[in-house]
Amino acid sequence: MVLRAPRPSDLDEMLRFANCLVREKRMNPGLGILMDRRLNRKAEAKFLDGLLTGVRTKDAVSVTAEVDGRIVGHTEVRRQPPGDVRHVGRFGIAILQEYRGKGLGKLLMGTVLEQAGALGMKLITLEAYANNEAALRLYRSFGFKEFGRLGGGVRPGGEPLGLVYMFRQS
Ligand SMILES: CC(C)(COP(=O)(O)OP(=O)(O)OC[C@H]1O[C@@H](n2cnc3c(N)ncnc32)[C@H](O)[C@@H]1OP(=O)(O)O)[C@@H](O)C(=O)NCCC(=O)NCCS
Repeated sequence: MVLRAPRPSDLDEMLRFANCLVREKRMNPGLGILMDRRLNRKAEAKFLDGLLTGVRTKDAVSVTAEVDGRIVGHTEVRRQPPGDVRHVGRFGIAILQEYRGKGLGKLLMGTVLEQAGALGMKLITLEAYANNEAALRLYRSFGFKEFGRLGGGVRPGGEPLGLVYMFRQS
């Protein structure tokens, strides 16, 4: 397994990765990710371009996990818009189903948070579905604290579910 920054040539792999998650979400609406529509190459190119631009301008950090040329995990922290919130970064992470529960989340999260800190993103925020026990435990283990909960903030499969807001300050 290789942990590395994403690059432009990852487009097709990133697309495959994202659509694997979308497929899983369609089978299991409770999966704690927002994406539920298949992405096309154009949409993924826009996403990747935005991310790589952010990395170049030091407004984002990102790490992908690659196994045999396949992307199996991705995490990122994106700086909030310029101005008084330049120290705030928004965190996200996802790992393909067959690679979960093996310590990869912990590894990716530790790596990307360190990179975000080095760029001055001292306050990291994230959101998680209230039923996403794996994610919530992972986040707590990195010192994230809940600062709010929006009841019914998401409706996976049409059922209202809370959205948990967390932060970590360093
Ligand atoms: C959340 C996610 C990133 C965790 O990554 P992972 O590789 O499975 O996690 P790890 O194996 O590194 O485990 C790290 C910690 O997470 C928690 N955890 C992981 N799997 C868990 C499970 N099935 N149940 C409860 N806690 C779990 C544990 O606290 C674990 O630490 P421990 O092993 O020392 O107890 C991963 O499950 C995932 O991608 N899920 C789908 C997408 C998603 O929900 N993204 C987050 C959106 S907010």
